[in-house]
Amino acid sequence: MARELPEPPDAGIVNAVRFGTGTFRFLEGVQSRFEDVVAIPVPGRGPLVIVTNPSLVHEALSRPEDFPRVPAQGPSAKIAERGLVQSEGDLWRQQRDIMGDAFAGPQVRAYANTVGERVEGLAGEWREALESTTTAADGGTTTRGGHGSDAGRAAGEQVLERNLHREMTTLTVRVASEILLGEDIGRRMADRFHSWMSVAGDEFEFDASAAAPAWLPTPVSAEFEGAAEGVLWLAEELIERRRAEMERGENGSMDMLTLLLAREDDPDVDYPPNQIRDEVATFLIAGHETTALSLTYTATLLSWHPEARERVREEAREVLGDETPQYDHVADLGYTGRVFQEALRMYPAAWAVFRRTTEEQHLGEYRVPGNAGVIMPQWSIHRDGRYFDRPLEFDPSRWEDRNPQSVEAYFPFSSGPHACIGRQFSLTGARLALAGLAREFDVDVPEGSLDDLRATPTLRPPEGVPATVRFAE
Ligand code: HEM
Repeated sequence: MARELPEPPDAGIVNAVRFGTGTFRFLEGVQSRFEDVVAIPVPGRGPLVIVTNPSLVHEALSRPEDFPRVPAQGPSAKIAERGLVQSEGDLWRQQRDIMGDAFAGPQVRAYANTVGERVEGLAGEWREALESTTTAADGGTTTRGGHGSDAGRAAGEQVLERNLHREMTTLTVRVASEILLGEDIGRRMADRFHSWMSVAGDEFEFDASAAAPAWLPTPVSAEFEGAAEGVLWLAEELIERRRAEMERGENGSMDMLTLLLAREDDPDVDYPPNQIRDEVATFLIAGHETTALSLTYTATLLSWHPEARERVREEAREVLGDETPQYDHVADLGYTGRVFQEALRMYPAAWAVFRRTTEEQHLGEYRVPGNAGVIMPQWSIHRDGRYFDRPLEFDPSRWEDRNPQSVEAYFPFSSGPHACIGRQFSLTGARLALAGLAREFDVDVPEGSLDDLRATPTLRPPEGVPATVRFAE
């Protein structure tokens, strides 16, 4: 006989409120008290089910018919409602088939090489800004002691102050547009994109006090409307330009947009209205945001662990030499890869995967009622001492003899049919980005800068991450 889901002893509404106000602490508490799963009753709705056991997580994620995605609502319905990140069933299958080749072998190489070129570009900007300044008068550049380890900086030393999250967003959004859509949108447009995403992130804040398996469906603010319109406008611009190029016969590439447009007249393919626009907006967001956050968290952890940063630097100098980072370097940047994997464990940009039930289901030996919200939190499973020794310690060496894909409790890219299509892109690109910057610069972030992360659909720093940049020895 199926077991009923355990419930916490406290009243449901109290738990729901706690979840809303201190999401990550609440999840950690639940993780330590419940071995498999817990159901938080929500008055007037189905329960909120939090799965704490990795085997059950994988089981639920491998059964999308029984545990479908939460339909887009509120702000998330405004941007890219039908894109691959939100679609289900036949539409999702059609789209994933059409776009599959855009993420296969040759495109991984192209993605990595583009990351390499863009990182070189960013390094060039930092280098120029550092070299052109030795006085505090220059905007954004200072010689005064400021954050954390820079407090004792020598007079005249060249230091830049940067919002690390913004820098990483600009980098990754340009890579995403170039590789997925065939066009680099440029630094200025990438900066605007960052602003739109910041507005969107504020709006999307996870509303667990309503205990719904979705994000707050409150009326959308005018500011958010503007950001959503900006993203959709950019998507349409890029589509029009590409369409015109294809009409002129300039369509040799395998990027995602070309693959989508090439199938427009295919009788076997059925695009609902605005489908391509929704995919472009989806990929502009999904293709850069998690990667930018993950790079930000990794660089932050490296700044707090100078011995690891020194090892990344040594590896980078040995493997890259003076060359532009490129795909052929990736395999030799093993330590840098482990650093990134470990950062994804401690600060998973996708902090939880959300699903629901429409009718009663069995999960393992448990009976899950219909109309439940189902949350599978990477955040707390990745920090559970049952699965990771010294889970709160940043220790890239834990991956030396462990293949991340064989570790059930580690799922930064989710699993099952909806697992991240861009996984290979990020894993290869991140090595090059981190090595390309570490070989030349010290990026320092004040302690405590990740203490107040927000539970939007991604794990976000509300005000960015302040950092100083200077030449490494
Ligand atoms: C460190 C970087 C990344 C992380 C942590 C990450 C994480 C994830 C996760 C957890 C999911 C599953 C969501 C779910 O099950 O509902 C997902 C799906 C997805 N990701 Fe990523 N992602 C990353 C990078 C990328 C990149 C670079 C791209 C595109 C170039 C991308 C595109 C997508 C898409 C389109 C989906 C939906 C797949 C589907 O449902 O078929 N992601 N990602």
